[in-house]
Amino acid sequence: MKTLLSFAMISLLISGYIFQQQDKHPEILEKGAEISGKLVKAIMGKLNAEIQKSGLAGAVEYCSLEAIPITDSIAKMEQVAISRVSHKYRNPLNAANEREIEMIERYISQHQKGEQLIAQLVADNGKMIYYSPIVLGSPTCLSCHGETNTIDINVRKVLNEKYPEDKAVNFKFNEIRGMFKIVFEKEIQ
Ligand code: HEC
Repeated sequence: MKTLLSFAMISLLISGYIFQQQDKHPEILEKGAEISGKLVKAIMGKLNAEIQKSGLAGAVEYCSLEAIPITDSIAKMEQVAISRVSHKYRNPLNAANEREIEMIERYISQHQKGEQLIAQLVADNGKMIYYSPIVLGSPTCLSCHGETNTIDINVRKVLNEKYPEDKAVNFKFNEIRGMFKIVFEKEIQ
């Protein structure tokens, strides 16, 4: 009972704080949405082009922010650090921390109820962090993140070699895959 209560209280505190930040910084929310929107488009474009060119197994390394050059230029221009985090991650560098897992779980439950998913701002050590949910919104995603037995054998081979601890499989279409995380380096009042 005690754990339940404190969990509920922590969740309340976190969401209260997030909403407070939300109202104060519409410009950061806008910038975050613009950056994540650009990156989603760029990754999709890169993935599709590479799949066309060299097939699914040849495209495996292109579902990565590092694989698209605009990530770096946006990061420099906007003074932000950009990453993706997930509760079920493929690359251990993308593992969500405890607070982020709670945020993802909240998104999952809101999504199941058909509620609108909104981006969130969190203040962390004097920096603002923008988070927005990533949904598996294209059947292409399932070629590499769907049910294990539906993933092409050649793709599975590459994945097993590169990511022996891969947790990013057995997702279904339209499920929450994780979040964009954009840390604003500039000090914001
Ligand atoms: C051709 C295979 C392939 C396809 C198609 C693919 N991914 Fe990935 N995905 C990967 C690989 C490999 C990684 C690990 C990248 C890395 O090492 O940073 C990854 C990582 C991710 C991550 C970062 C978190 C993690 O698990 O490391 C997210 C989020 C993600 N994919 C979402 C998607 C979405 C959404 C789609 C559909 C638009 C998609 N992926 C399509 C192979 C793929």
